[in-house]
Amino acid sequence: MTVRPVSHPVITHKINMLRDIGTKPKDFRQIVTEVTSLLTYEATRDLTLEKTTINEWQGGQMEVEMFLEEDPSIVPIFRAGIGMQEGFLSIIPNAKISYIGYYRDEETLRPKQYYAKLAENVQNRRNYVLDPMLATGGTTSAVCSLLKKAGVKSIKVLCILAAPEGLAKMERDHPDVEIIPAVIDECLNEKGYIMPGLGDAGDRLFGTR
Ligand code: URA
Repeated sequence: MTVRPVSHPVITHKINMLRDIGTKPKDFRQIVTEVTSLLTYEATRDLTLEKTTINEWQGGQMEVEMFLEEDPSIVPIFRAGIGMQEGFLSIIPNAKISYIGYYRDEETLRPKQYYAKLAENVQNRRNYVLDPMLATGGTTSAVCSLLKKAGVKSIKVLCILAAPEGLAKMERDHPDVEIIPAVIDECLNEKGYIMPGLGDAGDRLFGTR
């Protein structure tokens, strides 16, 4: 499995603003958007350009290279993944959106799907899963399995923070999926929070508790 943390001083600075508990939801959302734009720039480096012809401003024609394949699909995982949607769309505005929701079954402690509405022709698109906190990896792995069942072949996961435990689970379950975290943190605590982390990403984004 390829894990490609985006090592850049601008990212380090912004992530440390997210770690600061004094950062209010409005600024937190803005910074998550900015970091996701930077992750998107990295994650789309391998998009294929194809030859096409455009009409030039002086009346002639010009051979150029542009994206001609199906628009990609982003897969924001409810709830916190929604916070990354705008940042991705600021770079690739034509992306289609596949929403997926999971909750944790309190008896089995396993992720249970409660919502999935995938983009049309999702199997022919590149898919970018948006999940700010790759903690245990349980939900992210389940989402990748769901996408593969729908026939999807190309999946990348963009996250703000990843824990080594979550990366190890993804390596076991989906070695073909590339992970692009802004930063890899140290570990999970006994409650499943990423350490040092930034707390509950959904609560920080939306001002809930
Ligand atoms: N989800 C979060 O929002 N934060 C964590 O630290 C782990 C999972």
